[in-house]
Amino acid sequence: MSVRRLAEEQFQPANFAFNEENAAWAEATIRKYPEGRQQSAVIPLLMRAQEQEGWVTRATIEHVAAKLDMAYIRVMEVATFYTQFQLKPIGTRAHIQVCGTTPCMLRGAEELIKVCRNKIHQDPLQPNADGTLSWEEVECQGACVNAPMVIIFKDAYEDLTPARLEEIIDAFEAGKGAEIKTGPQIDRHQSAPIGGAVTLNDDIKPVRTNLEPQPETPVDAAPVPPAEAAKPKDTAPETDPKLKTPVTAPKAAEANAKATEQEPPAGTAKAEPVKSEPTTTASPASSTKSEKPSLDDKNRPKGIEKPAEVDDLKLISGVGPKIEGTLHELGIYTFAQVASWEKAEREWVDGYLNFKGRIDRDDWIKQAEALAKGGEAEYIKVFGKKPR
Ligand code: FES
Repeated sequence: MSVRRLAEEQFQPANFAFNEENAAWAEATIRKYPEGRQQSAVIPLLMRAQEQEGWVTRATIEHVAAKLDMAYIRVMEVATFYTQFQLKPIGTRAHIQVCGTTPCMLRGAEELIKVCRNKIHQDPLQPNADGTLSWEEVECQGACVNAPMVIIFKDAYEDLTPARLEEIIDAFEAGKGAEIKTGPQIDRHQSAPIGGAVTLNDDIKPVRTNLEPQPETPVDAAPVPPAEAAKPKDTAPETDPKLKTPVTAPKAAEANAKATEQEPPAGTAKAEPVKSEPTTTASPASSTKSEKPSLDDKNRPKGIEKPAEVDDLKLISGVGPKIEGTLHELGIYTFAQVASWEKAEREWVDGYLNFKGRIDRDDWIKQAEALAKGGEAEYIKVFGKKPR
């Protein structure tokens, strides 16, 4: 963790003022807070000032303190506490903040820091020769499950290897940082397991309950009397033997009640065995199984031949490299195709991908419409953020 102090005097400009647009924005932001609570605007104002100047200067802190009627030291405390505020000039194209907290450190953060030292500058918070890149180590950024990771300005880049970080730094240096996908850099959807879901998945059998028919026990097998069942055993305790035969839930409850009533003192008369009945209830395994829709189904969206220009479907939140490959196999290559899906087609694709409604939940249609209409710029206009 770097020491957080204001930049040396030679870097400090004499004064600071918001430009016209930012000044109006600052006034509107301050008005959002109730009377007497205007100081709550300190973080947004400092952030806006940083976006305007590139870093937070002493004059900025003084200006914000005066505007919010706060003591200078209070604003300084905020600016020096949060690592999203830069206290000295940083790289104009990228400032790489490498998380060095335990999970990231265990997963290779030190190797990432070596990359930064080699490619940018030996020391943190020192811009490279061109002033375009800089780096520093920061504390946990809340993406530990996808460790190791870095933050560049407002975006996180996760599941990094040294080689991938080098590629990312090169892209920013070339002014192509916006083309790099944010978030996980491997085949992982957000913070889901690597390689796809491993739970709530039709390939996984539900946990067996003691009310579920046990196939290895014959339907008419004689049940063990309760007194026998109650005897201590060397092995792990078993489920009530009466319930090991296939009975419906109400029957099992009835059987339990009966057994309780009839249970004799240990070593006396045997209890009447409870008769088992074949179940008529579908097992959870069969009731939860969902069939993959047929490729010949009339609701399957129409595929096309691979066009010369293929859209990057991974820009749609919820589509990773694996899903994109499956969509290509179905002849889906463009945002316009996805945007045109009717409800029945969405349901078909959802079922085919075993998504359980995720296409609608992630609103693929609205995302695809924006991307088809105006690419990333339109997406940002509609959703207020870059596509993933
Ligand atoms: S430890 Fe690196 S993001 Fe939490």
